[in-house]
Amino acid sequence: MTAPLADKKVLVTGAASGIGRAIALELAAQGAHVAGADIQRPEQTVREIRAAGGTAVAIGADVSRPEQVKAMVAGCLAELGGLDGLVNNAGIYSSLVPRPFEQIDLEEWRRLFEVNVFGVMSCCQAVAPHMKANGGGRIVNIISGTPFKGIPFMLHYVSSKGAVLGMTRSLARELGPSNILVNGVAPGFTLSEGVMGNPVQLEKLREVSRDARSVARDMVPGDVPGAVAFFMSAGASFITGQTLVVDGGSHFN
Ligand SMILES: NC(=O)c1ccc[n+]([C@@H]2O[C@H](COP(=O)([O-])OP(=O)(O)OC[C@H]3O[C@@H](n4cnc5c(N)ncnc54)[C@H](O)[C@@H]3O)[C@@H](O)[C@H]2O)c1
Repeated sequence: MTAPLADKKVLVTGAASGIGRAIALELAAQGAHVAGADIQRPEQTVREIRAAGGTAVAIGADVSRPEQVKAMVAGCLAELGGLDGLVNNAGIYSSLVPRPFEQIDLEEWRRLFEVNVFGVMSCCQAVAPHMKANGGGRIVNIISGTPFKGIPFMLHYVSSKGAVLGMTRSLARELGPSNILVNGVAPGFTLSEGVMGNPVQLEKLREVSRDARSVARDMVPGDVPGAVAFFMSAGASFITGQTLVVDGGSHFN
């Protein structure tokens, strides 16, 4: 049987750790050729993919720097020989400490928006011309369940993901005529390596998130990639502008 994503060339941002690493591994396991990009070069992820017999390259890039994003996409095209899909996963989340909005200063809002919102937009801008010339493509944005639920004490983060939710829908309309499908995956609270290193998040969010789920267990990075792979697959060729919540049945659309 042919692998579902055989020879698809996919760029995954934030691939060095956590959810992005899990996505890169799964897409490669399903046959995709993966360019893993991250502010810390994702060499380890690439080594794991190659060790499993897959194809991957590592690219260093800060998604909040448009010139680095352009170089990242050029590097992906040069190394993989094309680009069929983009997964916008890089984001600031696991380092955040929940607190009242009055205590979050504008500088922190700006940095978060530069990465979580403008970074996604820059990556989409950089891949769109190539996908258009190529007759189409797939973009999957890693959003979050928080804008659906209105989670308190992370107002900048929730707002940034709400912006990406809106961007996913509007871009689906703008890019649909070019056969570029844009969808989102919204994970619940996930025990990524970054989150495991944040005792405040663990204390405040782990139990409450687990208890709110229909499937009442911890969520791990490996719970997310299946939904991303689906949006990249032939079976999703008539789905766009949608965001799939992957959280063990906590929020229902
Ligand atoms: N962990 C969760 O509970 C959770 C829940 C919902 C959504 N998310 C989203 O999933 C994504 C990954 O989350 P995670 O918990 O694995 O995060 P993480 O912090 O563990 O990993 C994020 C990755 O992005 C990279 N990165 C950060 N800033 C970057 C930049 N400017 N340019 C390029 N790479 C950059 C980091 O180096 C890291 O490898 C994020 O977009 C996050 O908002 C996480």
